[in-house]
Amino acid sequence: MNKIVAKGGNELKGEVNISSAKNSVLPIIAASILSSGKCVIENAPMFEDVFVISSVLESIESNVFIDKDTNKIIIDSSNVLNLQPDMDLVKKMRASFLIMGPMISKFGSFKISFPGGCNIGTRPIDLHLKGFNALGADISIGHGYVEAKATSLKGNKIYLDFPSVGATENIMMAAVLAKGETIIENAAEEPEIEDLANFLNKMGANVIGAGTDTIKIIGVKELKGTIHKPIYDRIEAGTFMIAAAITRSKIKINGINEEHLKPIIAKLNEMNVDIDVIGESILVNAKKELKPIDIKTMPYPGFPTDMQAQMMGLLCTVEGTSFITETIFENRFMHVPEMKKMGANIKIDGRNAVIEGVDKLTGCQVRATDLRAGAALILCGLAAEGTTEITDIYHIDRGYVNIENKLKRLGAFIKRIDK
Ligand code: EPU
Repeated sequence: MNKIVAKGGNELKGEVNISSAKNSVLPIIAASILSSGKCVIENAPMFEDVFVISSVLESIESNVFIDKDTNKIIIDSSNVLNLQPDMDLVKKMRASFLIMGPMISKFGSFKISFPGGCNIGTRPIDLHLKGFNALGADISIGHGYVEAKATSLKGNKIYLDFPSVGATENIMMAAVLAKGETIIENAAEEPEIEDLANFLNKMGANVIGAGTDTIKIIGVKELKGTIHKPIYDRIEAGTFMIAAAITRSKIKINGINEEHLKPIIAKLNEMNVDIDVIGESILVNAKKELKPIDIKTMPYPGFPTDMQAQMMGLLCTVEGTSFITETIFENRFMHVPEMKKMGANIKIDGRNAVIEGVDKLTGCQVRATDLRAGAALILCGLAAEGTTEITDIYHIDRGYVNIENKLKRLGAFIKRIDK
């Protein structure tokens, strides 16, 4: 079994470069289905989720070329067929469902296996389907499949009950070739949505207001190929900010957008971590004594659920009582039993966690239960006394580019053992 081994105690020093955002590049790859020409994605992060969604596209006859040397992905979807994508791939990654919007937009009808839930919650798709239905698609669900049928899609006004990231993206992609005007209200405002809209607009779409809670899409006849470099990964940057804080170190992180990191910067500042932003770099200095804080995860621009586990790891090492409320996913505390094995003092009551800082965490064997939980356990390992072995690291490989090498270059004692 592959594992990551970390030994605590090393101070981190130096600089680290952030990759492009996982949650931008996945919908962008899906959106390239809409283009009649070639799309080139530059500075693409080379991790498992990117390979999986690329294979999903290949299973509907899209031509995907991944150049690992230049970090480019070239996609030609001009010959895409209205086939059912490989069920095993769709089940492997929930983001595969993001091809539904583009496929309905292109073909009117489309059938795909149900993406199902995942470790962090049930994650329904009702909001995506309500949106497709409002655009004129008849939806049927049965025998593990979702099917949409429409003669042509027509713009409409859609109010989302919750600002779902995936539903906003899927509806936006379904609407770009629909007749007339679509308005999505209570849309998710995450930076990755704005990035997707920029990509669509470069292809010739007319999307206005992405990044706010109201998005207007005026349908166009055709989309052409384009070249795009996705935004930096704010969650990877946040993970390295916590790496500095949990090891009480000072590091420089290159490849950030200050605006996107505001909720994380605000919380670290409140804890007494010094932060300086210089253009697209950020200096994180955690040499002062840190203070406990309260956090509630919220849709953007609130504190991101994708940083909750990492932040919890840090708070375990800070004297005093901290509180975390997880409002986005109902089952995103799976890292807690693993952190407790390392000596953390955390109590859970439903969606609330009470964290009492401990003098030290102690290394032991722990399991990455999902992507961010895995990253958080690596961070705990960097602060713990002794050796921490993290298993099930395929979760971490889904969405971090070479996390162990990037940390090693900062001076951490960390290695991967592939068996
Ligand atoms: N929800 C519904 N109905 C829907 C869709 C969502 O009830 O039709 C609920 C979900 O069950 C959940 C909440 O809405 O409780 C938020 O889900 P959302 O749709 O916003 O999340 P997502 O699109 O499935 C993306 C990211 C996640 C990130 C969330 C929240 C991608 C590929 N994934 O998921 O990223 O946590 O937004 O910001 O963009 C990660 O990177 O580790 C990760 C899990």
